[in-house]
Amino acid sequence: MTRTIAVAGKGGTGKTTIAALLIQYLIENRSGSILAIDADPSTNLNLALGVPVYETVGDIREEAIQEAQSGSSLGGMSKPDYLDLRIQQSLVEERQFDLLAMGRPEGPGCYCAANNMLRLSIDRLSKSYDYVIIDNEAGLEHLSRRTTRDVDLLLVVSDPTMRGIIAAARAAKLIHELKTRAGDIGLVVNRVSRDRADELKLPPELQQAIAENGLKLVGLIPEDPMVGEYDARGLPLIELPRESQVRQAVEGIIKSLDGFS
Ligand SMILES: Nc1ncnc2c1ncn2[C@@H]1O[C@H](COP(=O)(O)OP(=O)(O)OP(=O)(O)O)[C@@H](O)[C@H]1O
Ligand SMILES: [Mg+2]
Repeated sequence: MTRTIAVAGKGGTGKTTIAALLIQYLIENRSGSILAIDADPSTNLNLALGVPVYETVGDIREEAIQEAQSGSSLGGMSKPDYLDLRIQQSLVEERQFDLLAMGRPEGPGCYCAANNMLRLSIDRLSKSYDYVIIDNEAGLEHLSRRTTRDVDLLLVVSDPTMRGIIAAARAAKLIHELKTRAGDIGLVVNRVSRDRADELKLPPELQQAIAENGLKLVGLIPEDPMVGEYDARGLPLIELPRESQVRQAVEGIIKSLDGFS
């Protein structure tokens, strides 16, 4: 059975960082196969994972539309078989995980059949993995494009601000309204500072806002200068040392989740 976690939230809150660290945890602590999906058109999960990307699903869509217009016989293959093959070819295959980059989304002139076929193809691919981790683009638009459908867990990431928590609450509400089948929605607050007792704690106002909005807080992640340092130097976050504070926090979160412990 495939277990899927999607990471969503406001811009720059730490979605890609958290997705990469979840993947790192699974690599080191689980024996199952892992598919990482970069659903951000600016394609940067690969940098956090330290691997190159050559081709995206967006490229395949363009190519498929051109093939269809030119009346190509697709080498005698059916369209679904052809797309399955092309998606398989676009995978970045590493020893410990595979990565699929979505690339740019469909343009207004794109016909739905191609997108539906691509979605089915990605669904078929996903089913062959034990874990699928999806790093979403900022904002809520992608939710209507259904990249977060049928996930077991949607982690909504926020910064430790009132505006952040309110945006996260809005995202969670929208997901309910869109009837995206998210098994569970959890809030992660990232870049939290330590109090005088050196503990990670949110101010009472934020705790109250989280409760009032019915958000389920699944974890706090500390501000960790090592993350900024790795990013500044262009080092893959997946290589952060085991004792780094963010790694320990992400580990705590995943261990507390049903079905992942
Ligand atoms: N816990 C942390 N401590 C310190 N810096 C962090 C932490 N989490 C994220 N950052 C920094 O915040 C910035 C944004 O992080 P990241 O790219 O993961 O966010 P994002 O939500 O994926 O952004 P985008 O919306 O652009 O995709 C990065 O420069 C990263 O180094
Ligand atoms: Mg990102």
